[in-house]
This record gives sequence, C-alpha cells and structure tokens, in this order.
Amino acid sequence: MNADGRSRLNQTPEWSALAKHREELGEVRLRELFEADPDRGTGYTLQVGDLYVDYSKHLVTDETLRLLRELAAATDVFGLRDAMFRGERINTTEDRAVLHTALRAPRDAVIEVDGENVVPAVHAVLDRMADFAGRVRSGEWTGHTGRRIRNVVNIGIGGSDLGPAMAYEALRAYTARDLTFRFVSNVDGADLHEALRDLDPAETLFIVASKTFTTIETVTNATSARAWLLDALGDEKAVARHFVALSTNAEKVSAFGIDTANMFEFWDWVGGRYSYDSAIGLSLMIAIGPDRFREMLDGFRIVDDHFRTAPPEANAPLVMGLLGVWYNNFHDAQSHAVLPYSHYLSKFTAYLQQLDMESNGKYVGRDGREVDWQTGPVVWGTPGTNGQHAYYQLIHQGTKLIPADFIGFAEPVEELSDRLAAQHDLLMANFFAQTQALAFGKTPDEVRAEGVPEELVPHKTFQGNHPTTTILATELTPSVLGQLVALYEHKVFVQGAIWNIGSFDQWGVELGKVLAKRVEPALTEGADVPGLDPSTKALVAAYRELRGR
Ligand code: F6P
Repeated sequence: MNADGRSRLNQTPEWSALAKHREELGEVRLRELFEADPDRGTGYTLQVGDLYVDYSKHLVTDETLRLLRELAAATDVFGLRDAMFRGERINTTEDRAVLHTALRAPRDAVIEVDGENVVPAVHAVLDRMADFAGRVRSGEWTGHTGRRIRNVVNIGIGGSDLGPAMAYEALRAYTARDLTFRFVSNVDGADLHEALRDLDPAETLFIVASKTFTTIETVTNATSARAWLLDALGDEKAVARHFVALSTNAEKVSAFGIDTANMFEFWDWVGGRYSYDSAIGLSLMIAIGPDRFREMLDGFRIVDDHFRTAPPEANAPLVMGLLGVWYNNFHDAQSHAVLPYSHYLSKFTAYLQQLDMESNGKYVGRDGREVDWQTGPVVWGTPGTNGQHAYYQLIHQGTKLIPADFIGFAEPVEELSDRLAAQHDLLMANFFAQTQALAFGKTPDEVRAEGVPEELVPHKTFQGNHPTTTILATELTPSVLGQLVALYEHKVFVQGAIWNIGSFDQWGVELGKVLAKRVEPALTEGADVPGLDPSTKALVAAYRELRGR
C-alpha cells in the first residue's frame, strides 16, 4: 500500500491483468496479427499535428491496448498531467512546479504559480531574446573593438547544452550561414581548445548557459573563455560585449562578472532537460532567428494541446508511453532505440538520453519507497543508415528484444541540390525496409526458396517480431522539431507517472559531483583524501605517477 492508500503498482488488478494477458498472448507473431487484421497498418496509427505515428508493428492487440489504458487510468496519469499543466508542485523532492509547457503558452494564456501568472514573464524574456538575437544577426551588436560578432559559443552542460546543440543541428538548414556556432560542454580542456582555436576573440560572443550557475564544468570553461578573451583584448570592459548569461541565478551570474543586464532569465519550474525552449535556447534563436524560434514553440504547443485534450486511445504520448511500459515491464526489454533517418537529427537521441534517463532512471518512487518493478529503459541510437552498418545486426538477429522508434521525413530539406535531394528516396527506402524486415523477418522456407544451401538456412533466417514505432512527417521544420520534442517529453511523463517515479529531480548525479570535488586535491597535491576506497586510492597513485608527480 502507498501513503495515499493506493496499492503499489505491481499489486494492482490492472497490472495483474496485463501480466495474465502477456502469458496468454505468449509468442504472438506480427505476421499473424497482420493476417488477422488487414487494416492494422492504417488502423493502428495516430495523427498528432504534423506527425503520423504508426504503431501497428507492435506486439499488441486491441485487448493489450485496452489493458494498458486501464493501467494508465488506475495510476491517474491524466490527473498528474492536469496537475502539471495547472502549475502544481508535482516535483515534490524539490518542491517545485513543473511548467515547461508554460514556455510555449500563447501570450494571452494564464498559468499561475503561487497565484502569479507566469506567462507575461515568459514572453518578456522571449521578446528580450528576440531583440538581442536580432541585433547579433544584423551586426548591430558588436564586440568590444567594434567588429561584428561572427562566432557564437554556447558554454553549458546537460540540459544547458544538449537541447540547443541538438536543435541547432536539427535546424541547420534554417541557420544564418554567415555565423559560426559552437557548443562547449566538456570540462576536458580539449573541448574549449578545439572550439576556440580558429576563432577571433574580437568577433566571438560567449553564451554561458547554466540554470544554477554553479555547475563546475560550465563555470570552469566560462572562466577559461574569459581569460582567452581578455588575453587577446586586454580590457575587462570587453566582458560586457562578449559574455551573456542564461540562468535562474542572478546573484551567481553577477558574481562571475557578467552584468545582469546581459542575463536572460528562466525559472526554477523549468527543469534543465526541459529547458531549451526557454532562454537556454538563445544560441538557437540567434542561429535560426526569432520567427523560426517562435514557429518551433508553436510546434511544442500543438503537442501540449494534444496531450492535454486527446482521448486516451488517440493520445500519442500516452500510447507511446504505454507501449514502452509493455516491453519494459512485461517483456523484460532493457533498452529502447531511437533511430532517426535524418542526418540533421544526429544529436536527437543523445538529447533524449538525458530527457528520458535523467527523468526516469530511478529506483525510489514518489512515495519514497523502493520500486520493485523496472523503471526507465536505456535509451540509445544514432541516425539509422549508419546504425544499419553497425549494430542493426544485433537488433535483427541478436537475443535481446529492442523496441525502436524510426523517425523519417517525406521531403529532404529544401537547401539540397537536386542530385542530393534525389538520394532521399534511397534513404527512405532503407527506413521502410528496416521496419518491415524487423517486423516480419524471413522464414526458413522463404530462405530455402531462394536456393540457399541447407547449412546456411538458420544463419539467413530472420525471426522478425521486433517491434517498432514509425514516426513520419513531411519535413523537418522548426515546428516539427518542437512537436517531436514535446511528444517525447510527454511520453517520458506518462511513463514516470505510471512507474510512480518523480521524473523531475536528478539526485542521482549528485554523488559523483561531490566525490569529484573531494578527489581533485588527491590528484593535484597528493593530498590524503579521507574516505577514498583502496581501488580508487591505487588508481589515483598510478595517475600521479604517470603524470610524473
Ligand atoms: O548534473 C545534472 C544537471 O543538473 C542536469 O540536470 C542539468 O541539465 C545540468 O546538470 C546542468 O545544470 P545547470 O544548467 O545548472 O548548469
């Protein structure tokens, strides 16, 4: 029993019904499901905004979906959803509201936190960002020496890096090509070195992105960047023209030496991994321009509205979240692959890794008790065609069940030459061929019919039955990117709600941070750090010896 008097998840009748159903279904075959229902390929689909979501190639029947929806109802997913949209403090361990959806609310919306409407502040910051982005793009905002800004370097990590870096790549075709954008996150000095080595300090703008402004990697890199700038320009006053900050922490920003007039704020009710549509997106806004940025926000909003209002059976984030629960909890799947068939989405899965794994990678439930069911999966993947020649072998013929999302587009981006645009059909032929092969495989008889010698038949047989979701849109526009991100944000929300996980804190990253601070003097000064375990102590000694210390 939970504190709220409800049964724990895996003791609910809805959970038991799903477990029983799973047993009864046994090794259900996709081939059979499609034979039994010729309309499955069009029936098991959803439309959300510009996204066509096909979930027909899943190991589910109408009954499975019904039972999964019952589980969602029993765990009150929509109740928690409504509390989130209303601005209630559903991030209980940090006592915060969870309102990334307010970042894309229309100007006239009213969303209150502690009795205050937050929407005017959201739009005031967006307007300031638009003004600043416009001035950088036009050349009106100049560096300290009067030269125009040609390079923008975002310094941040986690949510203050992955989102803008991913979206910049995704929308590359919409970016100002006369500006150079770099994203520095790693505290490894090589990252900043490679980002700056060919840049002219007089033409470089640093955007220091950090919600807390205490993150050691970001503060260290920003300090080094400031030294690099001042070495070249020799005047402290240059900082004001070359550094802006994106943060919730004005005090720390000003302690760092950035004028708070050059700070774009956001709020504690925006989680880091849900933040790139806030001020954290400033580098992206400079790249694509304020209008395109707003189009992207409109895209987010389309899916927010859908998630808020669509009935369970037509609610795409709910259905995708439930399918994930089905494999994670009733098929023992350990991971989930996201495979975009777009070069521009090369960083999309890395972005989703933080979104999903930092949100739902937890073994303690919202009730403070250990869960005894599986929670968030390992999320992984890279652009599809490259994966085909690397790890798809394991998905097709390995021993693990790996549900996968395939994301593709009907049109290549407009900028491509006719010749390169013509390659798009080949790309998409691979996209469709892979999900077909994964689902339906190739039987031994089909292999034999091709004249394959008997001893090779088992090797050339594909068992199939590998479940996939296909997400198809016309083109990767700013709006479509916003729609995709919101779709996954809400999918992750659904799963956290069902698993009774607090998806909006991240205490699990703290211990490593604390230990790193403690270990550093052992590396630099050979200090005898109390509490170092014997293995780490020996490794530190080996490191010092290798460094000649
Ligand atoms: O350490 C994890 C984390 O707190 C993430 O949740 C966050 O996105 C990242 O660090 C960066 O934090 P900040 O924006 O405060 O620098």
